[in-house]
Amino acid sequence: MTDHAAKATVEILPVPGLPEFRPGDDLTAAIASAVPWLRDGDVVVVTSKVVSKVEGRLVKVPTDPEARDAVRREHVAAEAVRVVARKFRTLITENRLGLVQAASGVDASNVAGDEIALLPTDPDGSAARLRAGLRELLGVDVAVVITDTMGRTWRLGQTDVAIGAAGMAVLHGYAGQIDRQGNQLAVTNIAVADEVAAAADLVKGKLGANPVAVVRGLSIEDNGSTARDLVRPVDEDLFRMGTEEAIAQGRAEAVLLRRSVRAFTDEPVDAEALRRAVGAALTAPAPHHTRPVRFVHVRDRDLRTRLLEAMRAAWQRDLRGDNMSEDRISRRIRRGDLLFGATELVVPFLVREGAHDYPDQRRAEAERTMFTIAGGAAVQGLLVALAAEGLGSCWVSSTIFCPDVVREVLDLPATWEPLGAVAVGHPVDGPLTPRPPRDLTDGLIEL
Ligand SMILES: Cc1cc2nc3c(=O)[nH]c(=O)nc-3n(C[C@H](O)[C@H](O)[C@H](O)COP(=O)(O)O)c2cc1C
Repeated sequence: MTDHAAKATVEILPVPGLPEFRPGDDLTAAIASAVPWLRDGDVVVVTSKVVSKVEGRLVKVPTDPEARDAVRREHVAAEAVRVVARKFRTLITENRLGLVQAASGVDASNVAGDEIALLPTDPDGSAARLRAGLRELLGVDVAVVITDTMGRTWRLGQTDVAIGAAGMAVLHGYAGQIDRQGNQLAVTNIAVADEVAAAADLVKGKLGANPVAVVRGLSIEDNGSTARDLVRPVDEDLFRMGTEEAIAQGRAEAVLLRRSVRAFTDEPVDAEALRRAVGAALTAPAPHHTRPVRFVHVRDRDLRTRLLEAMRAAWQRDLRGDNMSEDRISRRIRRGDLLFGATELVVPFLVREGAHDYPDQRRAEAERTMFTIAGGAAVQGLLVALAAEGLGSCWVSSTIFCPDVVREVLDLPATWEPLGAVAVGHPVDGPLTPRPPRDLTDGLIEL
């Protein structure tokens, strides 16, 4: 394979003297008569605005700025298949051609005051027709690039890019080639058609005088590709969503990501992710401005084994007290194995500090309930925050049934009430995906 750089010198030739185009005008004939000097191998670069004009893609709009803007916005929406990002008055969309740009390419520059221009419907087709027409009229084999001006996501300023192309390889891949230092190039893939578009803009300018330029001196190697081949396929797009869109989706799905995960891979849990999730969980609402929840992350493996074995023994004692057969007991006890298999174990506790004392049972019980539900809110917060970190979890009740054992093994004060235990790890079944919300039947009563 060769270098995409020019054989010798590249010339960028303006094409002056073209008329102001209107719908139905013969663009091919006009260009042919303006560039009788066209040669085989030249690239004719045409601003999409003139293609839009001759192809009747001009729309009449009211002169009143507000009404004009409303019509313009309607057309931006109609041209879009997807809103990629929105910030203040800037709307970035994807259009039917897969082009992602501001305002669906709808533009009011270089058109009459009561008009706006939409992009050509099939710029690759327009490029192919123009190329064939120039061959017919002038007997030359040229490439054609149709351009539009776009911003770049991570760089200020706009450049011209190819939105239509015919007669040239739009991409020049270097994968596997060796540079002068002997390095093998891995991924370099030059968007030659975009480079040509940007180069031509240096002589075309933005004020409308020169909508066409000719780039001469490139090896254009027609391989049948078109500007459509420059659109990044969806599954290769790391930035498919706009930032705001992605944040909105993340917010909407956070709660729906959580589910009880009972089997985990060997992948370690990032300690910082767990700490962040606990930090988020500790923001849960609580009565009287108290902070009644403590999360104990039992990191020490020996301590954890001692805790789980002591809990298992306590459970066995309970079940034997129920006169259950040893066989059934061991089957039942196996349900607790999920904590042994968890990558990490967190035991939430409720500490009723700051709870009010009431002389009567009714209010005393209400106060107890209030603190208990606050504990539940914090644990659910932890599970959701873990899910948002990509971690699976399962909240199990076991410690609630043997609080003394838990406190004794973990050496905690008598006032700390365990609220179950949370197994944490990476789900065996792969990354968590959001579930649909439940239907509201029975769950929401609207009075
Ligand atoms: C307070 C509480 C105690 C729970 N105890 C256990 C348990 O001991 N063992 C278990 O496997 N799951 C336990 N779960 C999890 C429930 O079984 C689980 O939430 C339910 O099946 C719904 O599934 P989901 O969490 O995937 O939506 C408990 C859940 C809560 C809220």
